[in-house]
Amino acid sequence: MSNLITIERHILEQQRLFPEAHGELTDLLTDVAFAAKLVRKEVVRAGLADILGFTGSTNVQGEEVKKLDLFANEQIISAIGAHGRFAVMGSEENEEIIIPTNNESGNYVLLFDPLDGSSNIDVNVSVGTIFSIYKLKTSDPTKANLADCLQPGAEQVAAGYVIYGSSVVMVYTTGHGVHGFTYDPTIGEFLLSHENITTPKSGKYYSMNEGSYAQFNESTKKYLDYIKTEDKATGRPYSTRYIGSLVADFHRNLLTGGVFIYPPTTKHQNGKLRLMYEANPLAFICEQAGGRATNGRDRILDIQPAELHQRTPLYIGSTDDVIVAEEFEQGKR
Ligand code: AHG
Ligand code: MN
Ligand code: MN
Repeated sequence: MSNLITIERHILEQQRLFPEAHGELTDLLTDVAFAAKLVRKEVVRAGLADILGFTGSTNVQGEEVKKLDLFANEQIISAIGAHGRFAVMGSEENEEIIIPTNNESGNYVLLFDPLDGSSNIDVNVSVGTIFSIYKLKTSDPTKANLADCLQPGAEQVAAGYVIYGSSVVMVYTTGHGVHGFTYDPTIGEFLLSHENITTPKSGKYYSMNEGSYAQFNESTKKYLDYIKTEDKATGRPYSTRYIGSLVADFHRNLLTGGVFIYPPTTKHQNGKLRLMYEANPLAFICEQAGGRATNGRDRILDIQPAELHQRTPLYIGSTDDVIVAEEFEQGKR
């Protein structure tokens, strides 16, 4: 039993790599793990509590909001906001930034997607939570503002996600590798299960919503035709794996190898996925695991954000597979 390492203990050990952080990073990530436990509690019993279905409202994204989206959002804001470690937050479900009541001692920024894969909530398919943490730029935490939330992804100090699936796994990085923890409900802890995750240089899966084929530009269509053409030397055709929950598709490709692509479409000219709380945190994790994440041309982590909810095309996963997709996107193939 002695080799059981809880996420809190692992974070504390990671803390030693940041002598200047004085324990704050440990507190932040411990807060996030705590909030994940609160969300998990309801997600795994979603069919029993009155949190299935739609709320009847739409969010800033123009998407219908599900009860579990809001529940997860409220849990994270109240659980984490109460601890006063974050000076400002940004959530997919809130149009404006969130200033926690007692933020006077907060030195960090939390951006998050409280419930990723909403379309899958009511049908018992894996969903997740994605989070991204930055240092506050404003010197006085009580004056934290939107500019603190609009830092390039390369400035992240930590990022991670929780996937509520057949088991509940929390994955995070602080820039020192990627580590995964599986929730053990018998003791209520996330236990280290995937230390130092590295992603294969190439895989055999591609994840795209082919239902949008008619909305894709010609280069994307050419890539799709290529990846499905038989060619033993390059391991083609790849197999399609598309769950409709980014965090689940990303997690599978991270472990087995593969590429996830949400390209520009006629409906979403800049892609559908959000830069600040979907693309950036997963890009940080992907690069830390040896993978690659771009918008088809530019490194995701280098994009200078202009808006909290801005979208980006996303090509993410095994380096060799992402590069091939980029070459099509850039008309080089
Ligand atoms: P969210 O539920 O947080 O809005 O995210 C849904 C996203 C992402 O999880 C998934 O990969 C993508 O939407 C699926 O979009 P399509 O249904 O257009 O393929
Ligand atoms: Mn999402
Ligand atoms: Mn969401």
